[in-house]
Amino acid sequence: MPRIFAFSILILALGACSSRGPRASADKTQASEQPAAPSSGGQDTATPEETTTQLVAPRRWPGPATQYTLDASQDLGALLEYESLQDACAQYKAGDDSRQTLLRCGKWMFFFEHFDTIGVPMPLLQFLESYYRDSFGPSFSNFGLIPNPYGEPWLPLGLSKSSATIGSMETAAFTCASCHFGQMPDGRYSVGYANVQFDYGRFLLGLFSPLFLAINPDDPNYIPQVRSWLEEPVANAKAQSDYWLDFSMMGLQMLGGGESNAMPTLTLEEQERIWHWPPGTMDFLFKPLADDGVHTVSRIISLWNLPSAQQRQAYAMPHELLSWSAAAESLNAFLDGFVMIGQSAHADAWNEAAYKPLKEYIYSLRTPELLSDLDEAKVEEGAALFVSTGCVDCHAGPSGEGIRVFDFEEVGTDEAMRWIYNPNEEGEPCCEFADLNFTVSFGLKAPRLTGIENQERFLHNGTVESLEALFCMQNRGDSEVDALKSDGHWMTCDLSVAQKRALMAYLRSL
Ligand code: HEC
Ligand code: HEC
Repeated sequence: MPRIFAFSILILALGACSSRGPRASADKTQASEQPAAPSSGGQDTATPEETTTQLVAPRRWPGPATQYTLDASQDLGALLEYESLQDACAQYKAGDDSRQTLLRCGKWMFFFEHFDTIGVPMPLLQFLESYYRDSFGPSFSNFGLIPNPYGEPWLPLGLSKSSATIGSMETAAFTCASCHFGQMPDGRYSVGYANVQFDYGRFLLGLFSPLFLAINPDDPNYIPQVRSWLEEPVANAKAQSDYWLDFSMMGLQMLGGGESNAMPTLTLEEQERIWHWPPGTMDFLFKPLADDGVHTVSRIISLWNLPSAQQRQAYAMPHELLSWSAAAESLNAFLDGFVMIGQSAHADAWNEAAYKPLKEYIYSLRTPELLSDLDEAKVEEGAALFVSTGCVDCHAGPSGEGIRVFDFEEVGTDEAMRWIYNPNEEGEPCCEFADLNFTVSFGLKAPRLTGIENQERFLHNGTVESLEALFCMQNRGDSEVDALKSDGHWMTCDLSVAQKRALMAYLRSL
């Protein structure tokens, strides 16, 4: 596999789990009660009170979020807390065991830890930032990445200089912040927000193609869409005076890097696939990472309100059910996979103890405070409908997530994801993923329903572009592309308009 980026993505793991948690009968008169359970790892954040085992509509968790770190703000500089974070991990390692230091170190890791994975060649990022700034945006911001006010212009938040090199060439690897941090539609930056503005597919296509298209704008190795998308940017870049000089300097560094296949080649068909990924989605088991041979498209999931061990127990969740295929049984397993798929140069240094600050920080993340005014009566009406129309039968967890894996037949959404990891009949993943020790679930989880006020893409493949469309009040579009169908989950469509409006108001309150 091409070693050029180790787009340290995630890890799915297994989850054959179809265990249905014990459930009480739904009772719409109880819709306003809190479901359950105590805190997640830290005393610093508020979680729902412990109460009942009855199926009641989930509610927004009581605020405020953590008192130790500022995780949502209009002010990017304030949120980054650069001064107080930059030494936190050193203090933690030196024995400061306060919760504040732990979480500050975790937050630093969230933004800057590369896990020694191999990333994008640094000279390439520098070159593109110089010559493609007008088209790709300062710090690649037109792809939805957020410039780092404290860093180099070619390294947006979410790309961090890695210790792993290609030959002698420095690389920049993805950190959690590229995909799980961003600016929400209401203007606030938030840690844990699924950055669906990040157009991973275009970013990928924009990394190497301009170099070859500058040499031959009609290069038949590129699909027509890519050629026409880059026609003007390439022409503008070439018109700058030192373009070819800097181009050859960069080329020399890349070749001098000692890696003959330092540039991944994408076939026309592969480019075609990538071209169709909506922003905020990706097939991460695909070039330039290891390829499982099936096309699946995953939307980034927000990281707010991960349930604690006590909550999982109270709700009879079999394990952490992380990722769309409910694969990773724990955040720890997830991170192990991230390190492995990212081809970390020091994989053995990454273990439970090393992950601890980051994990604790992630468990502390809460949905940002609700800013818009609520129509309380509508919200209550919606909460009651959430129970009476059976939503809660599947969305039974502390934030409305499922507490088990669902078959695709039950939900009716695009089923390409069933074959993620290209498993055998026993659910053992194919090829190099066999080492991950996962068992594929052949199913899908229902995600946490929280932060919907600021959510712009829905369903696991991200093809449904609004809550209205999910409720069939707007057209969902009808892509024929494999893995990108927007069908299914008709439960939200087979309702009256009044019911839909009430349910949508309720969902936006979560
Ligand atoms: C390049 C984008 C990208 C990066 C970088 C990334 N993620 Fe993700 N993350 C995703 C996508 C896409 C999904 C959904 C994948 C799926 O389930 O198929 C996801 C899912 C997750 C989930 C599962 C959430 C749930 O409720 O099921 C967790 C946890 C997670 N990521 C944590 C992390 C952490 C921690 C990091 C940094 C070490 C990280 N991610 C880096 C894109 C990314
Ligand atoms: C049979 C189980 C089931 C029932 C019943 C059900 N859902 Fe879902 N729901 C799911 C699953 C599974 C998903 C994820 C589907 C996907 O991503 O393709 C989902 C997704 C969603 C989403 C999108 C979340 C996101 O981030 O993309 C919303 C909103 C939602 N459901 C609301 C409802 C409401 C409201 C009802 C009742 C009218 C309902 N659901 C009934 C299982 C169910």
